[in-house]
Amino acid sequence: MTELRLPEMGLVLLIGVSGSGKSHFAARHFRPSQVVSSDHCRLVVADDENDQSATGDAFDLLHHIVATRLRRGLLTVVDATNVQPKAREALLRIAKDHDVLSVGIVLDVPEALAKARNALRPERRLPDHVIPRQRRELRRGMRGIGREFKRHYVLDGEAEIDAATIVYEKAW
Ligand code: CTP
Ligand code: MG
Repeated sequence: MTELRLPEMGLVLLIGVSGSGKSHFAARHFRPSQVVSSDHCRLVVADDENDQSATGDAFDLLHHIVATRLRRGLLTVVDATNVQPKAREALLRIAKDHDVLSVGIVLDVPEALAKARNALRPERRLPDHVIPRQRRELRRGMRGIGREFKRHYVLDGEAEIDAATIVYEKAW
């Protein structure tokens, strides 16, 4: 069982392809107000959480919410794929600007599982190539991920993801 040690105040990035279970994990372990999701931000700015043309505006909003919460001293969890190092970099910069710690949690599931889960989601319409591309992006960035975060965890497979528990630590 993996014990995820998180700061009481800081930035947590969930990292994983579509269908890896980020939103499920976030709902299980955090209060709704602690979770900032790219899908929700897309919905807010476009009335449609699948509207890819709204990505720029959605992430501007997401970054604004993250910065505001960190300034106000609130633990903040980002529920977005975060598979691209550049996407993580923008968020880690906001954490750094606010002088708070960042933790990455990678949810690594087999491609077949992510695809099978998404096939059961009427609200999620993804072209076939998207999950393989996200997995490649994730793989490529994994080597350097230790340098990005003060601490990061890789949960490998559904059983390990389901068994993970969280403990909060005051001092790091
Ligand atoms: N799911 C499940 N059992 C789990 C985790 C997820 O049955 N242990 C289901 C969820 O209920 C959902 C689907 O698998 O219907 C995808 O999980 P979700 O958490 O929504 O995946 P995300 O990583 O958030 O996907 P996206 O990036 O597309 O938002
Ligand atoms: Mg999700």
